[in-house]
Parts: sequence; C-alpha cells; structure tokens
Amino acid sequence: MKVSVRVPATSANLGPGFDCFGLALPVYNTITIEELVDPNEEIQINVFSDEFDVTEFHIPTDKTNIVYSAVDLLFTYIGQSPQSMRINIYSDIPLASGFGSSAAVIAGGLIATNELLGSPADTDTLIAIGTEIEGHPDNLAAAVLGGFVLSSQESDGSVTTRKIPWPEEWKITMCHPDFELPTKISRSVLPEMVSLKDAAYNARRTAMMVDAIINKDETLFKLAMQDKLHQPYRTKLVPGLDEIIKNLHHKDNVLGTALSGAGPGIIVVTKDANTDEIRNIVADTWARYSVNVSTKTVNVEADGAKIL
Ligand code: HSE
Repeated sequence: MKVSVRVPATSANLGPGFDCFGLALPVYNTITIEELVDPNEEIQINVFSDEFDVTEFHIPTDKTNIVYSAVDLLFTYIGQSPQSMRINIYSDIPLASGFGSSAAVIAGGLIATNELLGSPADTDTLIAIGTEIEGHPDNLAAAVLGGFVLSSQESDGSVTTRKIPWPEEWKITMCHPDFELPTKISRSVLPEMVSLKDAAYNARRTAMMVDAIINKDETLFKLAMQDKLHQPYRTKLVPGLDEIIKNLHHKDNVLGTALSGAGPGIIVVTKDANTDEIRNIVADTWARYSVNVSTKTVNVEADGAKIL
C-alpha cells in the first residue's frame, strides 16, 4: 500500500510574526510513502526534482533524513516500531530558500504515514510532531492547513493554530534569489535576548497584522509588516534586503515586503497582480549585489496538504 500527499510551499513570519505567522503558496512538494512487503528490507529514500539538481544538496537518504525522523516520531507516538518503507520526495519547492521546503516534506511524510496507519493521530498532533523536527510551527501549520495561519508551540509541545481568511485580492510576489541560506545558519545570527522596546514594537505589529487581514485594512497592514526581532540581524546574510524593503515601501501597490521565513527569499504583498515595476525593482536592486532572482506573483494557496 502507498499514499501520496501534495503539500504547498509556505512563507513564515511575514515581518513581525516571528515563529508564529505562516502563509501557504502555490508551489508544491509531493511525498509518497510506500510500505515494503519484506519487513526486513532497508528503508529507501529517493528525492526527485524537475526544478533543481538534487545531488547538489547532499540530502541524506538514510535514517537521518528529516522525513524519516518525523515518521519515526509518529510511530513512537502510537507505540509502534517503524515499518520498512520507501519514501519518494518530488520537490518543486527550492531548498534552503525560505519557502518552507523542509516543512512541506515533514508534513507530507507525517500525513501519508498517518493515513497508511489508519489515522491514529489528529491534525494538531501531526503538526506538533512535525514541530519537534522543525523547531518552530509556523511553516508546518500553514503547509498542513493552507491560507494564513497563526501558530504557537506551548511548553508541553502542543501546538495551537488558527486559520484566518486572507483577502483574495492581496497577491504575493515570491522572490527567489540564486543563493541558498540554511535555516540553521539564519537562526544562528539571532540574539538570545532583545530589548523590551523591540519586543513591544513587534507585539504591536503582530496584533495590527491580524486585524488588518481580518478587516482587509491596507493602511494598517502596511504599518504592521515591519520587524525588529529577526530581519535586522539577518540583513548581513541577505545583502540587499534592507534596500529592497526601502525601495518598495513607498510604491502605491505595495502593502509590505519581508524576508520569507529565514530567507534568503523575499515576499512582497501587493493590492493586485500588477507587479512588473515591483519585480524590476527587486531584480535591479539584487543585480547590484550580483544576485540573480526569479520572481512570480501568485495567489495565496487557500488549501493545505492534500492526500492524492
Ligand atoms: N520562523 C522561522 C525563522 C521560519 O524565521 O527562522 C524558518 O523558515
């Protein structure tokens, strides 16, 4: 028996919502889990992509692979030993780009395995198990649920999520530069402590952002999509980030620009899909840093992971 699950890309944080906000986007990974007939057979993990050369990323194909680690945790949760299995990962989401490729494969592996096992775990539990591997719930929650999702991991490991309808007319321009930035490195530059002033700045903006999305308040959203907790520290890893944010800030069409998750990708939220000028500004600014970028303007993906 085998099960395939299609999972969307995600953009986390949206500026102020560090480790809390996530937004699903219409680029997908598909994960297939197949039970192997011989229970003594070694696990098999294969990674395929039409978009990039997977061999460049040295993705582990043994039990250290993150999908296997997540699946193993699920088996532990239900009190069973992992079975022999083949894991096939078809990846269209670029790796180490800030668009949630690891969350997508973890979510896909967990949902597919859960289905094969007769659904012993509910959605919240799957998100909590995946968060144990990811370290933060924001990408995972949006990948599983779709749309705009806020999430919080509690000290007992449980994860609370809420999905809030995203205004249909607000589009996202995904900007994917031609360099990678592993999340581990991007998190290593963040401070252990921040000032009360900066914490309060972000607390105000996360609250504003939720209200702005619910009420489709463009003025409030523009004020909200700013951050002092992570982007300022990550700028040194993403040359041109500050300049791109500044160059787009006063454009009429733009509601906000932010590092996508841990970067190096950037997202621009606009009032409509007329984004030629915006995409040119991003490309021209990054060109000054010898960075090439591919950009595309999309609708938010309202649906989360789907069993195929
Ligand atoms: N919230 C996480 C971070 C997202 O900013 O490190 C990683 O994709």
